[in-house]
Amino acid sequence: MNVGIDKINFFVPPYYLDMTKLAEARKVDPAKFHIGIGQDEMAINPKTQDIITFAVNACKPILTKEDLAAIDMVILGTESSFDESKSAAVILHRLLKIQPFARSFEIKEACYAATAGLQMAKNHILSHPEKKVLVVASDIARYGLNSGGEPTQGAGAVAMLISQKPRILALEDESVALTQDIYDFWRPSGYDYPLVDGPLSNQTYIQSFEKLWQENKRRHQRSLKDYTAIVFHTPYTKMGKKALSTILENEEKVEQKRLLTRYEESIGYSRRIGNLYTASLYLALISLLETSTSLKAGDRLGLFSYGSGAVAEFFSGTLVADFEKQLLKKDHPTLLNQRQELSVDQYENIFNDSLNSNLDTDFNDPLPYSIEKIKDSIRYYRRS
Ligand code: CAA
Repeated sequence: MNVGIDKINFFVPPYYLDMTKLAEARKVDPAKFHIGIGQDEMAINPKTQDIITFAVNACKPILTKEDLAAIDMVILGTESSFDESKSAAVILHRLLKIQPFARSFEIKEACYAATAGLQMAKNHILSHPEKKVLVVASDIARYGLNSGGEPTQGAGAVAMLISQKPRILALEDESVALTQDIYDFWRPSGYDYPLVDGPLSNQTYIQSFEKLWQENKRRHQRSLKDYTAIVFHTPYTKMGKKALSTILENEEKVEQKRLLTRYEESIGYSRRIGNLYTASLYLALISLLETSTSLKAGDRLGLFSYGSGAVAEFFSGTLVADFEKQLLKKDHPTLLNQRQELSVDQYENIFNDSLNSNLDTDFNDPLPYSIEKIKDSIRYYRRS
């Protein structure tokens, strides 16, 4: 039985910052952000938009009544949780009106969490083929104003519906995971921003990819020729390219060109959005599927998931016939083009205007699925 991604969609908040303007304000050569890091725009969320509002907005356009009746598991991967106990998946389950007899829970392991969710969803469908699982990755990547990680921030969500007979990507059984207890990026309880060892995080990301690639080759007798494209977790768009380059060195020029071209197709949306933590790998997948004109049914895609701390996984899937018909190819560029550009001052004001979850407040955000009010430390959501 084939199990995999039947539907996929992303949502980002309606504001962005031009990286040239951020570079000028920080007295940095804009080429460092555009070329050195590989980011052109960065998604910014107001305090009335959170991981729940991103998630609902990502799910709504793809889920039908039949889906809501068949979903019996809701998995949310995030590292931007606002509750130490209650899972955001439970709130998402209610807002989407999914049938009540479902398991809903949150998974944490930095940017890797949604991949754990995807693999769990696959196994669940294998034993319950008539059911569907909703896997959502939703995050706000924040490092702080003037911090080293500032140009690699972002915000948004990717929603995926997992089922048998998937219409986009059939997940294969081949996968290799790697766990290493490393402090490259972590956020102790109570901290607003993560603690980051930037160089160590880059190094661990690349080494994890190399180790998984070698192990995948050994276990599954695979070579680069078996993969039409390799899709990477994309904390900033230069990162995946650095990792990919390590395995291209001894390959023929034509192979190098093929994989680097697919890589460029996979980072188009990330360049305009920034890091989505758990959702970044899946945003790259959407970008590849919607941008590339050379993909065809049966093509094998390799996916590299990396969560600091660190857990990484290399897995694969094959494209299903007519996968293009399942994509929201026109809606995504429209969503990005309709965003409002912020000045650096506006961005800094929004950034500093953080939500106080302990203060009863009413809000008036016209965006669909925004936070309406906070009362007794509970967030209430509204559809405008
Ligand atoms: N023109 C062109 N390129 C320039 C340039 C210029 N004028 N000035 C600098 N550059 C290049 C540098 O040469 C460098 O390129 P290479 O990496 O190819 O050598 C690149 O721009 C970045 O320069 P620095 O290394 O000096 O940048 P930095 O010290 O400001 O920090 C960073 C970069 C470490 C990524 C930092 O932004 C950061 O800490 N980000 C958050 C952590 C992160 O994203 N880590 C990635 C792996 S961890 C992960 O994947 C999980 C996750 O999601 C967080």
